[in-house]
Amino acid sequence: MKTKANAFKGKISKGYDILKKNIFPNYFDLQKIVALELKKNLKSKPHLLDIGLGTGVSTETAFSVNKNAHITAVDNSAEMTKQAKHTLLECITEGKLLVVTNDALKFLKTAKTASFDAIFSVLTIHNFTNSYKKKALKEIYRVMKKEAIFVNADKIAQNNINEHQKHFKDKLELIRTEFSKENRQDLVKEWTDHYLVDNKPNIKINEKELRTLMEDAGFTSIKKIYREGMDAIIIAKKTVD
Ligand SMILES: C[S@@+](CC[C@H](N)C(=O)[O-])C[C@H]1O[C@@H](n2cnc3c(N)ncnc32)[C@H](O)[C@@H]1O
Repeated sequence: MKTKANAFKGKISKGYDILKKNIFPNYFDLQKIVALELKKNLKSKPHLLDIGLGTGVSTETAFSVNKNAHITAVDNSAEMTKQAKHTLLECITEGKLLVVTNDALKFLKTAKTASFDAIFSVLTIHNFTNSYKKKALKEIYRVMKKEAIFVNADKIAQNNINEHQKHFKDKLELIRTEFSKENRQDLVKEWTDHYLVDNKPNIKINEKELRTLMEDAGFTSIKKIYREGMDAIIIAKKTVD
């Protein structure tokens, strides 16, 4: 499967804390908004899917406001799922969380049609190539139950390319200054490279292009509920069987 394989392995995952605090000040806002949006749309005992578990923050936040949820969470990085399993051990022991180490698209293809009450993803789908995004969105739609919601918080380029480039340059500058303060030139390079890959034409997607892919996959009620710089939250529904 073509994604930026292993992008979150090794040193890059170690710089994640500095990144969240200083370079991504809206990181926890994104998590909270996604969790609350899920809550608004869920019935009791919902089964949710988190695409891109990472260290577990999105799933943990979803649980904090959706106490009766059962979550299946998938990530292709064994290093990330190991950390998440450690943080979320109690949820796993209680049988509320299933962690799957697998490629998202491979996992989706094996999942049953109409099996999830909601699907969420935070800061993950931008890692996929655009052809992979198209396939993944079709599968996400297929595995959602009727009336289920999809909440996607991610780096999504603005339709206006100049605005996008401005925010992109500002972010690269923030990466340079913040990791340099910690004397982490290794992380300046790794995260700059990561952002440069994200900005390649076969990976970068703007709101309009994403909306088209989502409409083609079958989604309805597609709405942007948040935008701050490079980050946006898009919600959508499956309204037919
Ligand atoms: C930036 S992290 C976000 C994690 C978490 N949602 C958060 O907000 O902290 C993106 C995650 O997506 C995972 N990922 C990237 N491509 C993937 C793929 N094709 N299949 C499954 N997981 C993938 C990475 O391993 C990484 O853990």
